[in-house]
Amino acid sequence: MNILITGGAGYIGSTVAWMFIDRGHKVTIIDNLKNGNLSNIPKKSKFIKSDIANIKKLEKNLDKKYDVVLHFAALIDNQESLIKKKEYLKNNFYKSKIFFQFCLKRGIRKFIFSSSAAVYGNSNTIVNEKSKTEPLAPYGLSKLKFENFLRKLDHKIDYVILRYFNVVGAEKKLRCGFKIKKNKSIFGNLCQAFFNNKIFHIYGKNFSTYDGTSVRDYIYISDLSEVHYNFAKKILKTKLRLTLNCGYGKGYSVLSIIQKLNLLKKKKIKYYFKPQRKNDIEYSVANTKKLEKYFQFKNLKSKLEIMINSSLLWYKKNKIN
Ligand SMILES: NC(=O)c1ccc[n+]([C@@H]2O[C@H](COP(=O)([O-])OP(=O)(O)OC[C@H]3O[C@@H](n4cnc5c(N)ncnc54)[C@H](O)[C@@H]3O)[C@@H](O)[C@H]2O)c1
Repeated sequence: MNILITGGAGYIGSTVAWMFIDRGHKVTIIDNLKNGNLSNIPKKSKFIKSDIANIKKLEKNLDKKYDVVLHFAALIDNQESLIKKKEYLKNNFYKSKIFFQFCLKRGIRKFIFSSSAAVYGNSNTIVNEKSKTEPLAPYGLSKLKFENFLRKLDHKIDYVILRYFNVVGAEKKLRCGFKIKKNKSIFGNLCQAFFNNKIFHIYGKNFSTYDGTSVRDYIYISDLSEVHYNFAKKILKTKLRLTLNCGYGKGYSVLSIIQKLNLLKKKKIKYYFKPQRKNDIEYSVANTKKLEKYFQFKNLKSKLEIMINSSLLWYKKNKIN
């Protein structure tokens, strides 16, 4: 396959790019490096340092034909999007539209789009793909708007919209992974607390969850990469217009993850409760019935342990002493 990946210098895009490269496929990556890292990019891929909306540059540098486009490029910080609403909508929605129109002009018809659980907003129950979409922040809104744009192009294209829940861990051979500096994710912060004896901040202790801290569904990045790989193969052969939740259908609270880490590593992470953040989602868990029609993930019981270990290994390899 000849694959085009946007945002391939970032955390998830680079991990997926490595999977395609390892399995003998041709990969081209577009990334403006705003948040990505050159060292994540597989050497065997072709890299174009460009914004997705810089059509002149893309016209000059891209191949004539690609089989599938995997669109990861986006600004991804939910909290930041509350302050930079216009920037988020511009980058994630308008620029994505420009890029897709360009792809369509070039005859590219098969797309896999990275959407997010953030499209659902706050829900106290497990959400399926038909649940109400009410994003709490511009980040989720930008994803939802683009999903709807894709659906309107329905007759012209095949697409798979993957609504990721929280993606965790690093590439299996530790060749790429999440940002070490300024990482705001829970697992990034946990690694910091673990290796640097820093106090871990928990935002909010009065959510209506089983222990008062917020609950999320997490998915291991290697499983998510397999999902992309398999849908890329499938979409080449069949007509697909799908929207799918990507999680395991199990929620973990912040406190329960700390406890698991303590147990696994015989450590006592110090934590401190901070006030709940604005527009933070208290409970976000996927109904995964639809995904299970295509995938049966193995070892679900040990996934949390695998995700913790993978994150720690990556952090240890890359931390600056
Ligand atoms: N990380 C998660 O848990 C998670 C959860 C849900 C959805 N997602 C989605 O998955 C995708 C990848 O997320 P990630 O965690 O790898 O983020 P990331 O920030 O590591 O990667 C995004 C990449 O896109 C690039 N980029 C952003 N805007 C661009 C533009 N206009 N032109 C070219 N490049 C641009 C950035 O430089 C970065 O390398 C995003 O679309 C995100 O919304 C991620």
